[in-house]
Amino acid sequence: MPVITCIEDLRLLAKKRVPRMFYDYADSGSWTESTYRANESDFQRIKLRQRVAVNMENRTLRTQMAGADAAMPVAIAPTGLTGMQHADGEMLAARAAKKFGIPFTLSTMSICSIEDIAAATQAPFWFQLYWMRDRDFMDSLMDRAKAAGCTALMLTLDLQVLGQRHKDLKNGMTAPPKPTLANILNLMMKPRWCLGMAGTKRHGFGNLIGHAKGVSDMSSLSAWTREQFDPKLDWSDIEWIKKRWGGKLILKGVMDVEDARLAANSGADALIVSNHGGRQLDGAPSSIQALPPIAEAVGKQIEVWMDGGIRSGQDVLKAWALGARGTLIGRPFLYGLGAMGEAGVTQCLEIIRKELDVTMAFCGHTDIQTVDKNILLPGSLRELGL
Ligand code: GLV
Repeated sequence: MPVITCIEDLRLLAKKRVPRMFYDYADSGSWTESTYRANESDFQRIKLRQRVAVNMENRTLRTQMAGADAAMPVAIAPTGLTGMQHADGEMLAARAAKKFGIPFTLSTMSICSIEDIAAATQAPFWFQLYWMRDRDFMDSLMDRAKAAGCTALMLTLDLQVLGQRHKDLKNGMTAPPKPTLANILNLMMKPRWCLGMAGTKRHGFGNLIGHAKGVSDMSSLSAWTREQFDPKLDWSDIEWIKKRWGGKLILKGVMDVEDARLAANSGADALIVSNHGGRQLDGAPSSIQALPPIAEAVGKQIEVWMDGGIRSGQDVLKAWALGARGTLIGRPFLYGLGAMGEAGVTQCLEIIRKELDVTMAFCGHTDIQTVDKNILLPGSLRELGL
């Protein structure tokens, strides 16, 4: 077993242990993947300003995100088919997040259901909603999330149509996998994963199957989005959803200052600057590049968070310095989960916490709340047009 010291180690182990179609599903962007790559590489271009001879004792990363306590400004992002990276994946990740003290978000397109997460953690979590044509089903999903004690609804705005991910089409990705020769051969090389899956009954979309109607292939993400997701979603629906939910609302997938203003005026509690991990509009800027003008324009009116490209605690610190009052991680926790289940998610969070804490100290701060743009070298920001 290799010594795990960084998120990249978890990624390599996950690649070995997770069936190819699910590893590829997580580790891919749309079309040429240029936005997917830029999400990570733009973080690398931002340089930190080292300070010395500053008292580094008693450091704290504590904050709040939409009123929820967070041991660091990081939450688990909603990711589809998480229970296909590892058996019962959403339950394991939710438990790891609870023990660590950060918020967990469950995707509509999860394998474990809302009720599974409530039973597994007995802790409040957030529920991410995809807006679908079947309004009775939308009502019932919101009621189920309320009944399960979800403290915020995260509405995704950027996936009413699906960006094409070549690998998913080539792999014929479904949950559960179809018993084709190629799949059977690949699964034979993933004994741990198969053993885990043999021990759970959760193999399909837990929130949807038995509840939603009108989908030709219940196991296919692309069939769900094509046939059920409502392409007519607009700001009047968002207003309606806010009233219907009646609790905290987080809007995910904002990349433009004009949309950010509309989001702030909608009365939502937080917005997430996000290009969906480079999985939707290829050719959009990186999330870290899109963040500063949005934080500048509406950061006083609404909590601005970001996701996309975070692979280290240093990335979290850079996002915070550029105005994000919280971040979300998707792939890093999925890699931990695919590599080692709950222990892998915990290790992912530990890695990020340590990197964030030590980097903050190097930059001369002991409290994340005092960190701002001054820890970044202006020349490196100018090169990104910031
Ligand atoms: C969402 O479910 C995605 O695959 O990006």
